[in-house]
Amino acid sequence: MYKKVAVVGATGMVGRMMLKVLAERKFPVGELYLFASARSAGKTVTFGGKDYTVLELNEQNIKRAAVDYALFSAGGDVSDKFAPIFANCGAVVIDNSSRWRMDKNVPLVVPEVNPQAAFEHHGIIANPNCSTIQAVVALKPLHDAFKIKRIVYSTYQAVSGAGMQGYDDLKNGINNEPPKKFPHPIAFNILPHIDVFTDDGYTKEEIKMIDETRKILGDRTLRITATTARVPVYYGHSESINIEFYEPVTRRAALDALKSAKGVVVCDDPQNNVYPMPLDAEGRDEVFVGRVREDRSVENGLNIWVVADNIRKGAASNAVQIAELLNGSRQ
Ligand code: A2P
Repeated sequence: MYKKVAVVGATGMVGRMMLKVLAERKFPVGELYLFASARSAGKTVTFGGKDYTVLELNEQNIKRAAVDYALFSAGGDVSDKFAPIFANCGAVVIDNSSRWRMDKNVPLVVPEVNPQAAFEHHGIIANPNCSTIQAVVALKPLHDAFKIKRIVYSTYQAVSGAGMQGYDDLKNGINNEPPKKFPHPIAFNILPHIDVFTDDGYTKEEIKMIDETRKILGDRTLRITATTARVPVYYGHSESINIEFYEPVTRRAALDALKSAKGVVVCDDPQNNVYPMPLDAEGRDEVFVGRVREDRSVENGLNIWVVADNIRKGAASNAVQIAELLNGSRQ
């Protein structure tokens, strides 16, 4: 029952949260191995009241650890090189980077949406992009009820999505210090730019949302467009999602579908100023949905506003939930 678990990138923003969530949700961790770069080797990190020494990520240490589950959040290059090594040693890798997400042999999993896909893995399972995770948790019940034809995503994403350095750029920027991670100041500003630009003018973040939504919902015909922006918020991504369905939809029917969906909390009482906000979502694992309105500019249109903690449900908690699913320990 108890498992050997590794966290790769254990000193980073998401890695630390993975440890917190593993402890909170009482994942049956028998042995724990913490990996980071050579810079952090020898540092101490506490888990469950016990101190653990951070190990340098290398082949020898991976073989010695021989873990059952390896939760990765150390960037695409690290996942590219080291995820197959863990998998070859018999581990199931749950990878938070974008490296393996669109690989045909790698399931892309959100436990509330496509849990069955997790069991088709060949040693690596991908955790979707943070913005995609919260979007598909809200979209799945609506897709089941009314069948989605087209999606327009507009996002308002927290700085913590860019790791420690992104967080620091906002914190220091408030005092007028120049940014180190972002190309422009993020304090008192909005950057319509997340990840790098591709030749056609989209950012990679936008392409990820489009491709990953199609893969998770299992419908390659979905028409999707996206604009992603970084806003001066520490934790919690917000998304305006405009949806066109094949079937007729009403606000009431959409609310009913959302209310009975797993992992969704409906916050929709506009007369009393009740709607989802990042400050309320911080520290929570659910996806908050509100501002549900019919879009009368098209046939069968709907607008929703979706908020979740990007470091928890958007990354760490989703990864831990995947491990729980495989392990049969919760859900
Ligand atoms: P380190 O702290 O030693 O640099 P964040 O996105 O919050 O900045 O975190 C990135 C995480 O990925 C950190 O834990 C970082 O470790 C880890 N990391 C970065 N490069 C490597 C590498 N080459 N090998 C292992 N871990 C790495």
